[in-house]
Amino acid sequence: MKIPFNIPYLTGREEEYFLAALKSRRHCGNHAFGQKCVELMKHKYGFHEVFLTPSGTAALEMGCLLADIGPGDEVILPSYTFSSTGNAVVLTGAKPVFCEVDPDTMNADVRHMASLVTPRTKLLLPIDYAGIPCDRTAVNALAKKHGLSVLVDAAQSIHSFANGKPCGADEDMAAFSFHETKNLGCGEGGGLVVNRPEWVERARFLQEKGTDRSLVLSGVRSKYSWVDKGSSFLLADLLAALLLAQIEDVEIITNKRKKVAAAYHALYGPYEKAGALRIPHPPAGADCNGHAVFVIFDTAANRDRFLALLREKDVHAYIGYLPLHSSVMGRCHGCRPEDLPLTEDLAARIVRLPLYTDLADTGLDHCVEAMQTVLQAMYGTA
Ligand SMILES: Cc1ncc(COP(=O)(O)O)c(C=O)c1O
Repeated sequence: MKIPFNIPYLTGREEEYFLAALKSRRHCGNHAFGQKCVELMKHKYGFHEVFLTPSGTAALEMGCLLADIGPGDEVILPSYTFSSTGNAVVLTGAKPVFCEVDPDTMNADVRHMASLVTPRTKLLLPIDYAGIPCDRTAVNALAKKHGLSVLVDAAQSIHSFANGKPCGADEDMAAFSFHETKNLGCGEGGGLVVNRPEWVERARFLQEKGTDRSLVLSGVRSKYSWVDKGSSFLLADLLAALLLAQIEDVEIITNKRKKVAAAYHALYGPYEKAGALRIPHPPAGADCNGHAVFVIFDTAANRDRFLALLREKDVHAYIGYLPLHSSVMGRCHGCRPEDLPLTEDLAARIVRLPLYTDLADTGLDHCVEAMQTVLQAMYGTA
């Protein structure tokens, strides 16, 4: 039996909603299905405003434009993240400044982040890796102390909570991804949450190619014109139809994924106690959405051996991110691998386990058994 890294989940209502969107003859952004998605997210999570975008990448780019960063400004983000987080910064001309991670979560080490603040810092851009909420209390306190804005890359953390507050609700802005690899997917899609009321009108301009078309739609203007920067940051209603079905089932999806995550924690926990590896330790008060489970092996060689042995059993884990600071682009921005030794070390030893919603119902026992056999061959019985 093959266990791939990911299989997109279907609720069973996607076809019906997609056909309804198709037949509506209103296929572009901000139509009926998109509006329903936005209202549902605002209702469930208390977000002030949500803008559906063509991807999580686009949501990050729109967020960086809204934060009004540009040449001469600095943005602090973890190096252990996807290229999109870094690109959103460099596309504005601002400088990315990379910080270390906390090995318990692989999220930004906020103390290190604080040590990197300079008079040029304008934005903090932490991520919620594996659906584990970053330390928002510390990030928001740091931002407040220095008058900075906060954009959380929440690509992986829809329906995760920190101290009872949904990810996305407690920061200036959050960028979600609805890519097929995420808990909720519509192929390619994203959403920018804007919690600063005074930024909402400008966000509408940015989303609509820098025009004030939204004022025409609301009857304030008769003609629209080019008033700001912007791009085409809209999700087609055809895709929003798929997304709506997924948002409606977010609790079912999350519970299934949590079941898989719990099985992995039960398997790997004893090996952590024996000193062979480390597993995630979300902070107190975190309720994680089961997006992903990572394992940090004792050595890079054992990480590679684990991946190879597991692949022989047709179970497909993945190495995770290559750090941004030591990438080709990171070096172009003046970073050196030795700047962040902890990130370099952890990235060489980390594995992301296969985790998709349907695995909870089909294949989980087989997958855990295969992993157990590999772990026993490598480390003996824990
Ligand atoms: C942390 C993070 N940021 C941004 C993205 C980009 O999202 P998308 O693929 O929807 O553009 C991803 C997707 O993998 C991600 O994991």
